[in-house]
Amino acid sequence: MRHFLSEQDLTADEFRGIIHRGSELRKQWESHSCEPTLPQRVLGMIFEKSSTRTRVSLEAGMTQLGGHAIYLSPDNTQLGRGEPMADTARVLSQMVDAISVRTFSHESLERFAEVCTVPVINALTDLLHPCQLLADMQTYFDHRGDITGKRVAWIGDGNNMCNSYINTAKILGFHLTYACPDGYEPDESIVSAAGNNTSRAASPSEACEQADLIVTDVWASMGQESEQKAREKAFEGYEVNTPMMSVAREDALFMHCLPAHRGEEVSADVIDGAQSVVWEEAGNRLHAQKALLEFLLLES
Ligand code: CP
Ligand code: NVA
Repeated sequence: MRHFLSEQDLTADEFRGIIHRGSELRKQWESHSCEPTLPQRVLGMIFEKSSTRTRVSLEAGMTQLGGHAIYLSPDNTQLGRGEPMADTARVLSQMVDAISVRTFSHESLERFAEVCTVPVINALTDLLHPCQLLADMQTYFDHRGDITGKRVAWIGDGNNMCNSYINTAKILGFHLTYACPDGYEPDESIVSAAGNNTSRAASPSEACEQADLIVTDVWASMGQESEQKAREKAFEGYEVNTPMMSVAREDALFMHCLPAHRGEEVSADVIDGAQSVVWEEAGNRLHAQKALLEFLLLES
């Protein structure tokens, strides 16, 4: 039994295997030839934060694979009335085949997984967003082939997405250059574990130089809404815009996990422009996570 709490829970071969299966599942979906590989399997989905893409992709994915998914939030379960996460984990483990959790603290997700006897999927914590990285990497591979040896620029907040990109750089062998304002750097232990696969640039345009892929995310993540104004000031000059894209390689791609704020972390002409693959990236959440569910429920 395996959990998927971090990118580091997968070997490089397993990561690539899931990406390739995700691409295969996308082709099946496009030709209306999906096979129900997970009949009668049930996924419990605990969401303590909002979600559009993650919820819909997991729920639609389970249905397409012949199974079912149940949406659980603090508002409609005993979690909201104080039932401990660990007790919930023990109960759900006897009723469903896997559980996805979107929550705040990564440590609380780890504690939850420790007592679960079914696979647990990280559907986003304050530290990491590994499901998004499966979709992002599938999107890159589909457009450009393997990402080993490529240069990726992270511009903006050193948040959960940035940490996940750094983890993935180490696993798949690309270089992640991040440009973050002082005080908004990624997690120190994740940076040091990535060794030579990551480095900090002095400015956003230095990070973008010769990049094959440029990625950004919101300046204030879920739970940081009260910091919005202070962050807008701290992130001045960090908008990914056309001048920034122009120092990257000519065939560089642009990604953003969404939701996005045009005119803040990305200009409208970049996110809606020819180098942006954000819609495909979002669509691949469905296929990459179906591949992950098969991996956790059938192969692990
Ligand atoms: N990118 C992402 O995880 O989107 P949601 O918050 O809508 O799930
Ligand atoms: N960094 C963002 C990602 C949303 C998908 C957040 O945590 O809110």
